[in-house]
Amino acid sequence: MTSSPRSKEPSARGFALEKAVVSFRGTAALDGATLEVEPGERLAVVGASGAGKTTLFRVLTRGVALSGGRVTVGGRDLYSLSKGELKGVRRRIGSIYQAYNLVPQLPAGVNAALGEVGGMGALATLRTFLAGPDAALASRVAGALDRVGLGDKARARTADLSGGQQQRVAVARLLVQSPDLVLADEPFAAVDPVTTERVFEALLELNHEGATLMVNLHDVGLARRFPRVVALREGQVAFDGPPERLSEEALNEIYAGDDPHQEVVLPEPQGDGGPKEPIQLAEGRDGVSSH
Ligand SMILES: Nc1ncnc2c1ncn2[C@@H]1O[C@H](COP(=O)(O)OP(=O)(O)OP(=O)(O)O)[C@@H](O)[C@H]1O
Ligand SMILES: [Mg+2]
Repeated sequence: MTSSPRSKEPSARGFALEKAVVSFRGTAALDGATLEVEPGERLAVVGASGAGKTTLFRVLTRGVALSGGRVTVGGRDLYSLSKGELKGVRRRIGSIYQAYNLVPQLPAGVNAALGEVGGMGALATLRTFLAGPDAALASRVAGALDRVGLGDKARARTADLSGGQQQRVAVARLLVQSPDLVLADEPFAAVDPVTTERVFEALLELNHEGATLMVNLHDVGLARRFPRVVALREGQVAFDGPPERLSEEALNEIYAGDDPHQEVVLPEPQGDGGPKEPIQLAEGRDGVSSH
């Protein structure tokens, strides 16, 4: 009952970048980035705009061309996999992008169900869903929407939901997918503090269930709630360690060259990121607030 075809696929929980280089028209977005993440870890990625954070996320699903180094997911060289193998790995990875990748015309519940269907196109998914979603999937979708506080929105057109609600639909889709590796690129952009807490807890729950969790955050205060923080600067890993070691000096270095009008606000460390702690958001919500 609980075994799905996906469970036969190799795990995608741990991953590593070895001197990874990704270039766009001669400019390196990743410039020799090295990072090793063990299965089940949770880490926050921070860094100035343009530092290569989104590119780091994309390279882990082979969403960009690699021009140097190596990327392994679940111990396998991602860029040497066949198309079929790659598809299998991608099914085990759940992503939230800066734009949530939802199908706006579809009901929220169908978008959430996309998590299960994974590699299938939206139309095939819709057909499957409308032809009669199996009861188990329907109840998982309902449960996932409930967990992100959208239990009453399953039938609402996704395009009619607010930005924050759409973001939560994307998280519900992740909960349905139950991936090995969760890559969340700024999942808290444009949501209020209460929603942030809800989404944060849902992501932590996936991690507690065994998924590796990597979250890109602009809020340094929130990043400090992760046991491991990785900072990118100019396409390289400039810091990798526990948040206690992320000093103001280190942060100034990391954000040097960013918008000169931006100033780093350094909130106090806030525990180890346990799901029950209330989130204290820095003033202005973003750790890096503009004045
Ligand atoms: N598809 C692309 N084509 C050309 N250049 C790109 C592309 N994607 C990213 N870049 C460049 O690569 C660099 C890193 O971009 P990336 O999106 O990884 O930054 P980021 O750290 O996610 O920034 P932000 O915090 O603003 O989202 C930037 O200089 C960006 O302009
Ligand atoms: Mg980005």
